[in-house]
Amino acid sequence: AHGWPGLIAAYRSYLPVSDQTPIVTLHEGNTPLIPVPAIAQEIGRQVQVFVKYDGLNPTGSFKDRGMTLAISKAKEAGVEAVICASTGNTSAAAAAYARRGGLRAFVLIPDGYVALGKLAQALLYGAEVLAIRGNFDQALEIVREMAATYPVTLVNSVNPYRLEGQKTAAFEVVDVLGDAPDWLCIPVGNAGNITAYWMGFCEYHQQGRCDLLPRMMGFQAAGASPLVTGTAFSHPETLATAIRIGNPANWQRAIAVQEASQGAYTAVTDAEILEAYRLLAAREGIFCEPASAASVAGMLKLKEQIPTGATVVCVLTGNGLKDPDCAIQHCMNQFKQGVEPTLAEVASVMGF
Ligand code: F0G
Repeated sequence: AHGWPGLIAAYRSYLPVSDQTPIVTLHEGNTPLIPVPAIAQEIGRQVQVFVKYDGLNPTGSFKDRGMTLAISKAKEAGVEAVICASTGNTSAAAAAYARRGGLRAFVLIPDGYVALGKLAQALLYGAEVLAIRGNFDQALEIVREMAATYPVTLVNSVNPYRLEGQKTAAFEVVDVLGDAPDWLCIPVGNAGNITAYWMGFCEYHQQGRCDLLPRMMGFQAAGASPLVTGTAFSHPETLATAIRIGNPANWQRAIAVQEASQGAYTAVTDAEILEAYRLLAAREGIFCEPASAASVAGMLKLKEQIPTGATVVCVLTGNGLKDPDCAIQHCMNQFKQGVEPTLAEVASVMGF
């Protein structure tokens, strides 16, 4: 009984588990809520800004929160194989937890649009990976059919246990702040995570553990922003491949969250995402993946609307190491290569 036991043990009374549930855990959760003063300063008024750095979970994204519960419940039910469609992170988490629990993991990914770190994870964890010549939305349609037809359990965020596990992130935010924030800024793809956070805040509110309920501010990449425009995108495009989704699986829930919380869905361009991505890394020392930076990009885009004195939490859903190509590609201009191995040359290139 030392250290953090994982989120199921930590929030057991809030989760649908019993003594019969075999808990499959990598001690996920309990990720830091980090103040980001340099980013707060960009707002130009007194606002407290934190990031919930969920990229520090065991497989590097918030998906671990949902997967510990989804896999534990699948194992409890005697399931032998799970399946998911993924832009990368779900496949990594599904693979890790399924294999740890002794289950097979099948994953469908869009060929050529999964960041390298995520693909490496899914393969090494031992998933059976199929890259399809299509996008995420097409992959999701196929795995839904697969799960309806064959003895494989779907672990995308339409699996209710996924959201139950993910709601614990909201609990952790409240446990640290002592109340809910005024705004919760979050990147949105399938809208599972925004739904889960809202469930978590509402549940804590009902239990008297927080007074406030946040405005849920969801951000989508402009090239994949169906919740902003109100129509599905048949060809979603963004460098934030994690949220390259044109037809969110949790569309109705996403609308319900927005209405209940007086929130909004807003698009951010890839350029705005990259700007926030660099700002987080170069000013705060926090490396997240591009999709995650959409939360900060969005908050900065809407900065005029933030009430003075407010507390804002931006969710950083995935670790920057997931997508090293993106970082390197966008930093080539500051990378001095081919330097002669002499003191004089090194000092000269440094400008001394
Ligand atoms: N951020 C990251 C890093 C993600 O990987 C995802 C979703 C999201 C945000 C959006 O979360 O879908 O609940 O609204 N990734 C899924 C995947 C689609 O397959 O890994 P959402």
